[in-house]
Amino acid sequence: DKPIRVALLGCGTVGTEVTRLLRDQAADLTARIGAPMEITGIAVRRPNKHRDVPAELLTTDAAALVASDDVDVVVEVIGGIEPARTLLLDALRAGKSVVTANKALLAESAGELFAAADASGADLYFEAAVAGAIPLLRPLRESLAGDRITRVMGIVNGTTNYILSAMDNTGSGYGETLEEASRLGYAEADPTADVDGFDAASKAAILASLAFHTRVTAADVHREGIASVASADIAAARALGRTVKLLAICERVTDTDESGETTESVAVRVHPAMIPRSHPLAGVGGAYNAVFVEADAAGSLMFYGQGAGGAPTASAVLGDLVAVGRNMVQGGRGPRESAYAALPVRPMGQT
Ligand code: NDP
Ligand code: HSE
Repeated sequence: DKPIRVALLGCGTVGTEVTRLLRDQAADLTARIGAPMEITGIAVRRPNKHRDVPAELLTTDAAALVASDDVDVVVEVIGGIEPARTLLLDALRAGKSVVTANKALLAESAGELFAAADASGADLYFEAAVAGAIPLLRPLRESLAGDRITRVMGIVNGTTNYILSAMDNTGSGYGETLEEASRLGYAEADPTADVDGFDAASKAAILASLAFHTRVTAADVHREGIASVASADIAAARALGRTVKLLAICERVTDTDESGETTESVAVRVHPAMIPRSHPLAGVGGAYNAVFVEADAAGSLMFYGQGAGGAPTASAVLGDLVAVGRNMVQGGRGPRESAYAALPVRPMGQT
């Protein structure tokens, strides 16, 4: 069978694990997809650093790799807005399907990425962008698409959960625990994205967009990080039978005006919260994530698992790659943006 040729943009914490899974599971993946999947190029910044990857695959020219006739699918695990945005728009405009783990980019530019995908018929998949290994976006986009979701709420940042859990359990200091989270591959390249709540806000924007079939960007999300949470706050919470967690909360809100007319909107916020130690989220430790979804017909659902780290995130990337591969082999297409702009988004901070 004709191979599906993959360009990998970035080979750090996540990219390294993507290459490992593609190599170690090649035979199984070929059987599941119906065609072999092979990496034809890997774009990085510093090729000399990547001695474990065949040198002939490495390039520093990501744009040329994306444009190459030898590439069918682009996997982006560089992170950040540029050059990722331009590279992915180029890929989609050329009809090459994209798999990305880049929540910052999706929370800012989902509209133009989906428009480019729709114009060319390419797929755009991004399960790894929220909650690492946990299958969460596909259930929101597909399994629950016939229901009416009212709330999505939970822990979506592994680094801050790792820090807060350690501060609570062992009394470790903030700085040393953040360093450890970076060493373990949980933190973003710039960890202020984690501790200041930007990463969770991007994820909340993506979750709200999918859950409520509207378009929410990171700029719409009220955001507070954990930088101001001190050991004394954690101890005070403990004395009250509580613990501190960074929560992302996406809600469908109904307002009633003086004439009794109701209007619905979406409110999205990220902030530290004191929660009772008996609450299921209080037991979510380390870099784990947990997300509750409430829907009219389905009731309450809970999604739980490893929210950060190379291998868990690569698992989600591979799932998307299999979906793209199957679509190519079987002639299908992945879901498009389900943004009907039906629900307005509340101004930041208004809940
Ligand atoms: P890393 O910083 O570990 O890796 C980034 C990679 O991108 C490196 O290989 C780097 O090259 C390469 N790179 C950076 N700039 C360029 C450029 N201009 N051209 C080509 N290559 C470039 O990041 P992660 O693997 O941790 O994260 C990647 C993405 O996955 C991000 O969007 C992140 O938010 C997301 N993500 C990460 C998770 C995690 O737990 N780490 C979980 C879920 C999502 P070089 O190695 O040569 O410096
Ligand atoms: N830095 C992110 C986190 C990676 O800690 O959750 C997973 O998206």
